[in-house]
Amino acid sequence: MPDIVHILDKELLTREDLIRLLTVTSKAERDLIFQKAAKVRSENVGKNVYLRGLIEFSNRCEKNCLYCGIRTGNAQVERYCLEEDEVIACAQHAFENNYGSVVIQSGERTNEDFIIKIDNLVRKIKILSHGKLGITLSCGDQSKETYQRWFDSGAHRYLLRFEASDPDLYYKIHPNNKKHFLLNRLNSLQYLKETGYQVGSGMMIGLPGQTPENLADDLLMLKMLNVDMVGMGPYIEHKDTPLFEKRDQLLPKDERLALSLLMIAVLRILMPDINIAAATALDSLADDGRMQAICSGANVLMPNFTPLKYRENYFLYENKPYLTEADALIKKINESGNLNGYQIKFGEWGDSKHFANRVKGLGFDS
Ligand code: 5AD
Ligand code: SF4
Repeated sequence: MPDIVHILDKELLTREDLIRLLTVTSKAERDLIFQKAAKVRSENVGKNVYLRGLIEFSNRCEKNCLYCGIRTGNAQVERYCLEEDEVIACAQHAFENNYGSVVIQSGERTNEDFIIKIDNLVRKIKILSHGKLGITLSCGDQSKETYQRWFDSGAHRYLLRFEASDPDLYYKIHPNNKKHFLLNRLNSLQYLKETGYQVGSGMMIGLPGQTPENLADDLLMLKMLNVDMVGMGPYIEHKDTPLFEKRDQLLPKDERLALSLLMIAVLRILMPDINIAAATALDSLADDGRMQAICSGANVLMPNFTPLKYRENYFLYENKPYLTEADALIKKINESGNLNGYQIKFGEWGDSKHFANRVKGLGFDS
């Protein structure tokens, strides 16, 4: 116990410190970490929770990640791509409900047709909302020119998870070929930063074969990349994927949830002013998984706005809560006025404080 108190008092956490925090076994030690995360959170980003309406644009993907239900090799999936007017209707709905931002997420494609479609969507959403809706993109690895083009059209945040920072683990969950190079991903994150985006990254937690050392290194990678936002969530097995074979190596669901929440708390301590999203995958482990994430240090929620008829085809993993409507969540928030004491912020972009600090030159780079 004393060493945990000492670690939590330190200015800079080492790899060993992080491993120690991620391997605590007693409730008392865990509580200390969560208390510290709550303090760091309220001193740096307050108790606000920002909303992004999530629009899952298309489940067509060129990649073949071994864990993902919409990988190109999965022939069981019915593929879809939303029509432009369907996306615009989702964005309009988000705007009318006073959401500050939307996220357009998609399987990865790099052809000109896809690039133009996303570009048009970004411009039209800007027009419909008179520039008021913030736009985050999560559309995978693209060229520097494409990132620039979408940025010039009005997107200002980009999410691109590195999934696992350890090359050995990374290539156990991705095919080892040009399309899936880890270094390309890291280069993309650099390009995104140079373009001027607020940049988000992250990884999966509880992968088969993943160690506490791997997780500590993932956290250090986020710190080294100096990201503005993080989306990290539990790995959830999917039966139509190759990684399903390794399901007997997984932590039980309650332990995977506990580990994911601990990771959020430790990340909040490590990077006090970033935005941390409560990943949707948490709700596959517990009904209130995302709420538990908010209480552990996350400050961004991304309710799903994808039209219901498409949701069952955007099954990245099993037990995805595709029937939970954004509207139901809004209703709940409106009725209670807040969420466990956290203030849901409508009508705000909710930009990452870290980004503001970074561009002011207070961060490690620009
Ligand atoms: N379990 C959890 N998260 C997954 N993702 C893809 N497949 C899974 C899975 N089986 C996540 C990846 C990707 C994001 C869009 O969804 O981290 O970056
Ligand atoms: Fe495609 Fe992303 Fe799934 Fe990989 S994780 S197969 S890039 S949608």
